[in-house]
Amino acid sequence: MAGGFVSQTPGVRNFNYKLTPKVFVTCFIGAFGGLIFGYDLGISGGVTQMEPFLEEFFPYVYKKMKNAHENEYCRFDSQLLTLFTSSLYLAALVSSLFASTITRVFGRKWSMFLGGFTFFIGSAFNGFAQNIAMLLIGRILLGFGVGFANQSVPVYLSEMAPPNLRGAFNNGFQVAIIFGIVVATIINYFTAQLKGNIGWRISLGLACVPAMMIMIGALILPDTPNSLIERGFTEDAKKMLQSIRGTSEVDEEFQDLIDASEESKQVKHPWKNIMLPRYRPQLIMTCFIPFFQQLTGINVITFYAPVLFQTLGFGSKASLLSAMVTGIIELLCTFVSVFTVDRFGRRVLFLQGGIQMLISQIAIGVMIGVKFGTVGTGNIGKTDANLIVALICIYVAGFAWSWGPLGWLVPSEISPLEIRSAAQAINVAVNMFFTFLVAQLFLTMLCHMKFGLFFFFAVFVFIMTIFIYLMLPETKNVPIEEMNRVWKAHWFWGRFIPDEAVGVSAAEMQQKSV
Ligand code: BGC
Repeated sequence: MAGGFVSQTPGVRNFNYKLTPKVFVTCFIGAFGGLIFGYDLGISGGVTQMEPFLEEFFPYVYKKMKNAHENEYCRFDSQLLTLFTSSLYLAALVSSLFASTITRVFGRKWSMFLGGFTFFIGSAFNGFAQNIAMLLIGRILLGFGVGFANQSVPVYLSEMAPPNLRGAFNNGFQVAIIFGIVVATIINYFTAQLKGNIGWRISLGLACVPAMMIMIGALILPDTPNSLIERGFTEDAKKMLQSIRGTSEVDEEFQDLIDASEESKQVKHPWKNIMLPRYRPQLIMTCFIPFFQQLTGINVITFYAPVLFQTLGFGSKASLLSAMVTGIIELLCTFVSVFTVDRFGRRVLFLQGGIQMLISQIAIGVMIGVKFGTVGTGNIGKTDANLIVALICIYVAGFAWSWGPLGWLVPSEISPLEIRSAAQAINVAVNMFFTFLVAQLFLTMLCHMKFGLFFFFAVFVFIMTIFIYLMLPETKNVPIEEMNRVWKAHWFWGRFIPDEAVGVSAAEMQQKSV
């Protein structure tokens, strides 16, 4: 697999290190971070449609749900119910901003530990919840955990990974997110069959398992060479680099780390810097890619697939089963990206995935519209319901090899070092904000926009596909340090990049790229 991730660009140095056991452990820790995020993403949809849970905390929604044939589109609509799901992402947004300082000043492992710790407390609050307040406090604590973990784990992973395997390691993080979602869905499937309150308590309480994994992992793992250099432990950093690379010949890479650290120390105000016109392409992409990723509507499926399937008339068990199927398809299809992103490139996957999502969303909207109309009453036959599930799977597959992994990969690889940390913080914050918004508004939107909701997201998928086609240059195999050349050669962004940043004029670059 390593070969596929080695840069083919002439003149680029490739460090062909072998995979040491120590780096493997790093990979697992990264996976724990993803599992936690994924478990959170996957668990709430199933729990919010368990009857004992609704009866205990949301009796109003429960009554409405029992009154099923009143209006299919609106039976789960409750701001409080959505707040249960979405509060986590607002908390994650806030904590990711704090986490960046802790990660920098105290090292990556303490942010990871803090993430695991707040997670653990959050899962206890949720598992033992006696009232809405405990439920929401638990959710907010879990959110803090997600913010800390998502901020620190990918950084830890990228810094520990040998440069020639970094792409595979980063995609592995997304694989782990989806794995967490699938595990959560499977747990929900079984706990939903338990009588009384024990089912949802187990589902929510089991978040303590990945929390403990990341806590213990953070305690036993060393910090990264980059972080050690940043904090003045230069000698330790060199020893660490030698031990994780499994060779004493690390001078070139070590010098790169020292240079990068020196360079980043020159920049006192990365937040001010990123506003300069020369960073406009990166700033726009860093804001728009996470925004568009969420406006694909994927989290309608992630959070509410069981609710959506119940709205379509599926039984509770069949709904959870269908959600499990879509999760497994997403997991398998994410591997398509892992194995092709460096061969076919980002643009091909973005454009192909976008078109696939667009067509399937329109088809789903039309089918639901025909069956339920605008009134929201009606019955859907078995064949039609299965067809809708199949279309949802096609949509999910399209996301899984495009906007899913690329939504995290591209923003992290397009910025020069001096603004990289600020850009990454913006990426996480924008992503969490729109995750929150979609989670909070979906049930109300379904109630008011009805099947039009699918057209709403389809319009955005159309816009984002055009946006990628026109505005995103191909970044496949381009070393991060040479990314300015890619922007300079672009028909629109070229004008923002000063000649001295690449040593040639925009006209010359565009000439070369023709
Ligand atoms: C997205 C999440 C989404 C997950 C699974 C991630 O890339 O950021 O919002 O829930 O993929 O689909």
